Amino acid sequence: MAPATNDESTPPRVAIPGPIIIGAGPSGLAVAASLQRLSVPSLLIERSDSIAHLWNHQTYNRLSLHLPKHLCHLPHLPMPKTFPTYPTKSQFMSYLISYTQSFSLKPIFNSTAVSARFDPVGVVWRVVVARAGAGEVEYESRWLVVATGENAEPVVATEEQAMGGFDGKKVHSAEYRTGEEFKGERVLVVGCGNSGMELCLDLVEHGATPFMVVRSGVHVLPKEILGISTFGLAMNMLKWFPVKMVDRFLVMMAKTMLGDTEKYGLKRPKLGPLELKKTTGKTPVLDIGTLSFIKTGKIKIVPEVECLTQKGAKFVNGQEMQFDAVIFATGYRSNVPYWLKVAKNDTQDCDFFTKEGKPKSQFPNSWKGDNGLYCAGFTGKGLLGAGTDAVKIASDVARQWRALLENKRVVS
Ligand SMILES: Cc1cc2nc3c(=O)[nH]c(=O)nc-3n(C[C@H](O)[C@H](O)[C@H](O)COP(=O)(O)OP(=O)(O)OC[C@H]3O[C@@H](n4cnc5c(N)ncnc54)[C@H](O)[C@@H]3O)c2cc1C
Ligand SMILES: *[C@@H]1O[C@H](CO)[C@@H](O)[C@H](O)[C@H]1NC(C)=O
Repeated sequence: MAPATNDESTPPRVAIPGPIIIGAGPSGLAVAASLQRLSVPSLLIERSDSIAHLWNHQTYNRLSLHLPKHLCHLPHLPMPKTFPTYPTKSQFMSYLISYTQSFSLKPIFNSTAVSARFDPVGVVWRVVVARAGAGEVEYESRWLVVATGENAEPVVATEEQAMGGFDGKKVHSAEYRTGEEFKGERVLVVGCGNSGMELCLDLVEHGATPFMVVRSGVHVLPKEILGISTFGLAMNMLKWFPVKMVDRFLVMMAKTMLGDTEKYGLKRPKLGPLELKKTTGKTPVLDIGTLSFIKTGKIKIVPEVECLTQKGAKFVNGQEMQFDAVIFATGYRSNVPYWLKVAKNDTQDCDFFTKEGKPKSQFPNSWKGDNGLYCAGFTGKGLLGAGTDAVKIASDVARQWRALLENKRVVS
């Protein structure tokens, strides 16, 4: 694959026979593996220096899969029997490494997709990739698979950030590894999703005093109901019952097993947990022990932050408090809008992604766009959704790949 042109102004062009896959996280790996099984080559591009940047470099040490392993493995290779039901982060990483090796995948590391656009004349996708220390290169292919993740870039709420003058430590949950470095400190944790809740637990266990901001409501559910993963149970029930009924069941079980969380400042939203997830994308929290510390007051609940001050924070109720550190467990967003240019023309609207970089159509229809554009891992359904996307994408591309090969054979 020698570069076709080589003047200084335009990056060298390289034609890729199979699809170009952007992102070597679980989704990208699953697509490349599924293609490999169908004998379709692909080019896997990764900005980081290793696979699965999110799991490798942006997660805290105590993290284990939130869902049981049988709902988290990638297509065509289950996790080892020796793994516990909820594998640790390092076990999951070792699984991803052996997955990569099993399918002989060779991601191109230190390579960031900086722009991608469809060229209607050449009927190809043109993807400009910046390689650390090696300049840019333009890859072209009939197929482009977006696998950069729903969690590509950390988000920090603008109001807190803008009012910046805080003297203490400020970190995003992506930079947090362990509570050790916060021992004896008063720590404000902004955000009460799964990450925020788990960091608070970790902080308490390391001798820090966490204060958790609960802005609006949150659904806290038990991780398991009668020994079955709550998420798995809900998925099975959805095959038989309407969402509203499953939601009522989940909330009832949560109240029975966890008690009335509203008493501790964790208001339950009006919409049920599954309906809320579907309409707003907000994931219910699976309790892994945080709640008991909220009940005993070791983790304190505070209202929404109005602004950070030099020594702490001012809350919307006017109260001010001092803190040694602030952790933003404020989530992540997609980076697709920064690099994918899906042009609109008069006759055809091929706008596939929203302004926020998520596919406009929802699961199970979010995997395929126009002109050979695909998207894996944007279903809001974690690793399970990514696997489903990968299998569909691979079989769709393989069908076209075979047709192309047939044509060539007929012509020559
Ligand atoms: C703390 C935490 C816990 C989670 N626990 C679970 C769980 O238990 N079960 C579950 O199913 N899901 C879980 N998730 C959801 C998580 O998103 C998935 O597990 C999974 O990481 C999604 O895989 P992905 O490949 O789509 O995205 P990612 O893992 O984010 O991978 C995307 C890859 O693309 C790369 N990339 C991004 N932009 C570019 C670019 N422009 N050019 C080149 N490369 C790029 C990134 O470096 C990264 O390696 C969790 C998420 C978090 C944050
Ligand atoms: C990626 O970049 C890092 C830092 O610049 C370097 O140490 C590493 O060797 C590179 N890895 C690859 C596979 O090119």
